[in-house]
Amino acid sequence: MISHVKKVYLETFGCQMNVLDSELVLGALEGRGYQRTGQRDEADVVLFNTCSVRANAEHKVYGRLGELSHLKRKHPEVVVGVLGCMAEREGADLLQRFPQVDLLVGPGELDRVPDLIAASRDGNSGPQQALAGDRARRSSTLDAAGDNLERLDLSRSMDAVQRHGSAYVRITRGCNKFCSYCVVPRTRGAEIHRPPDHIVDECRRLVDAGVVEITLLGQTVNHYRFDHGASIVVAGVVQPQVGPGGGAFTRADSSFNVGRKLTRFSDLLARIHEEIPQLQRLRFVTSFPRDFGDDILQVMADSERICNYLHLPVQSGSDRVLRRMNRGYSVSEYRELVARARALVPGVTIASDFIVGFPGEDESDFQQSMDLVRACGFKNSYVFKYSERPDTPAAGRLADDVPEEVKKSRNHRLLAVQAEVSTAVHRQHLDRTVPVLVEGVSPRGNPEATRTQLSGRTVGDLIVLFEGSTDLVGHIVPVAIHEARQLALHGAVAAPAEGPGTP
Ligand code: 5AD
Ligand code: SF4
Repeated sequence: MISHVKKVYLETFGCQMNVLDSELVLGALEGRGYQRTGQRDEADVVLFNTCSVRANAEHKVYGRLGELSHLKRKHPEVVVGVLGCMAEREGADLLQRFPQVDLLVGPGELDRVPDLIAASRDGNSGPQQALAGDRARRSSTLDAAGDNLERLDLSRSMDAVQRHGSAYVRITRGCNKFCSYCVVPRTRGAEIHRPPDHIVDECRRLVDAGVVEITLLGQTVNHYRFDHGASIVVAGVVQPQVGPGGGAFTRADSSFNVGRKLTRFSDLLARIHEEIPQLQRLRFVTSFPRDFGDDILQVMADSERICNYLHLPVQSGSDRVLRRMNRGYSVSEYRELVARARALVPGVTIASDFIVGFPGEDESDFQQSMDLVRACGFKNSYVFKYSERPDTPAAGRLADDVPEEVKKSRNHRLLAVQAEVSTAVHRQHLDRTVPVLVEGVSPRGNPEATRTQLSGRTVGDLIVLFEGSTDLVGHIVPVAIHEARQLALHGAVAAPAEGPGTP
């Protein structure tokens, strides 16, 4: 008898880090013989990789779990798992509310998903849980925090990557910033920096597998720094690092402080750019405005294939609000950074995030956010209504006192100003031919159109829509821009483009 191939359905919510985590989990499951499916009803394992940043992201998952109670009654053998930040944040409470959940796995324990699914299928041992709990915040060194996730990154399967042309590579995990509204330092734990050799190797393997664009990921990506004085533990073995001059030194040696070496974020960027010349585009997200040195801007300016694009969330244009958000910078410091970036990296595009309706935000604070959007010329801004998150410093100290209608109206007004600014940024590209990495068929395309509308991105991360064959997906093609709208540029495939540095 042919044995039934087990199918896994995984739905991802939230940020790019979750998109990458999902890809790694699916790769690990494929390695154990599972097949991916887009049909939840035919799956043997149903997983949700979740986000806790705002309440509405969590409500969507509650909705999904509710839908599954019926399926679970009919097919109790189907394994239902909640992965990621909600699992970590809610823990056993989630199991109590949703008995249909068999598996809870926090973002730091995802390498254990295949084993936990197997345990769940095998026995009557009840729901399987793998959560970091307090351990998540205990240490910021890779070895002390355990190498579970490092193993997951290292075992990445290259099978799926050719389809996209573009791939994410994690360089830091967790966050130490403790912005007062944010749940991430609790769910993803202390900031940990991956060894540069692991990162460069992963990038090289991706490029060898056909990837043309790599986006380095970190909650505060520019905060990356790796101290080569520290030893790392992989699978329980202390691995000596190669010291300056090629000699290996162990943790004991490093305590003598012999030529202790640091790899800063700018060093890492330069190293990837130099050591992997076949890589056509290198990006990074998300940058934190406080740790952004000129060394990073200089490497961007000097390296042709590093994209001139920054995602630099400001959150508010009011110093009073920024202080209460615990962001650690002032509006004038932020504006000075934007000016430095524009001076050192010609043509750089900048995107931002804003939270509207933060506790105590009044109309004049909000007007300052409107002014900042106009002054900084962001290519786009993601605008979020403040969502109080349990156990964050803001939830404990500050009343969520801006009424929902006011939050909604500020959200619309800020997006309206951003729309004008985005259109102006887009207009600068009219009548130019720019290189575009084709990402796929446009979801905004007209289904009646006779030819396929493709969607891609410029070096500066601007969306470009144009007609063409799906064979172009994953390739960089020159596109002549003939229309600039608020959300995207429109154009047509053209003769060779101006060069890789064109934003
Ligand atoms: N409420 C609303 N938006 C939030 N963000 C983070 N936490 C919250 C919250 N509690 C937004 C920030 C951040 C983005 C990823 O999500 O703008 O940059
Ligand atoms: Fe959250 Fe602030 Fe860390 Fe970003 S920098 S993940 S907003 S705590």
